[in-house]
Amino acid sequence: MSTIRHTDAVHVRAPGKINVYLGVGPRHDDGYHALATVFQAVSLYEDVYATPADGFSLEVAGSVDVSDVPLDDRNLALRAAKLLARTAGIDEGVHLDIRKGVPVAGGMGGGSADAAATLVACDALWGTGLGPRGLHELAARLGADVPFALHGGTAVGTGRGDELTPALARGRFDWVLVLSEQGLSTPEIYARLDELRTHGDALADDATSLLEVPVALLQALRAGDAAELAPVMLNDLEAAAVLDRPDLEATLAHGVRRGALTGIVSGSGPTIAFLCAGPEAARTVQEELRATGREALHVHGPVPGAQILS
Ligand code: C5P
Repeated sequence: MSTIRHTDAVHVRAPGKINVYLGVGPRHDDGYHALATVFQAVSLYEDVYATPADGFSLEVAGSVDVSDVPLDDRNLALRAAKLLARTAGIDEGVHLDIRKGVPVAGGMGGGSADAAATLVACDALWGTGLGPRGLHELAARLGADVPFALHGGTAVGTGRGDELTPALARGRFDWVLVLSEQGLSTPEIYARLDELRTHGDALADDATSLLEVPVALLQALRAGDAAELAPVMLNDLEAAAVLDRPDLEATLAHGVRRGALTGIVSGSGPTIAFLCAGPEAARTVQEELRATGREALHVHGPVPGAQILS
């Protein structure tokens, strides 16, 4: 149970994301890879309640397993609060109460959403008035996916994934997510892809994209056409994630057999995102997957980025 009174708190909600397309280029000297990606924010949320305090503290609860979430300075939300205070010359502290709805280490940017929500909450709490550009700059320093969690919607990401261009997406897309009990480490999955490529592994090469988002994919998003989107979706990290978690292959095949238009590993995994023709189809796919004992959630996108709710 929470130890704080939420009435004093600024409450900000930020979404998790799916990479509808994730093209991974070469690794640069800073350890990051060049990306051509398309993010879509989906209706699975992190809620951050920020309350004035003397120092910096954190508590985490939620509808997903939070036992692996660090509560010290490895936590991206705590780092976000401290970075904002330092940058804006604030000598107050904050208590953060985080309610997680996005799977931990699931490839859906839950930690990045916490950081984005914390930036917005502390900006409001302290009246730092950094504005969208200032917040974006701090977000990019915290992590490659943090700027997108601020902006939400559907967007093309280049550079490390932090240089964003909004993409038009009409209507709504219905997704069924299959969650895993065990998370995957993002740096390890990127490193595994590098290894696969170094050894000329066919698995990695077959799927290797151009470092450019296909025009057909942007058109399908613009048209709100899930059937056209499905065949052009791609994730270069999928081969590496499946190597670590061979069971994901069977889940991908099962969802498609049961009516999904396609399935893809989300980001660095292990969450799987099935694109469905509409809400009805998604409910059927969700039920079929649940019947096999898998944890499946029906979500939709695009949804807005980090927003103050109270
Ligand atoms: O920026 P973030 O902390 O979310 O990235 C986590 C890790 O993912 C990085 O340390 C890096 O290993 C990998 N990564 C990458 N190239 C990117 C984004 C992330 O190699 N463009």
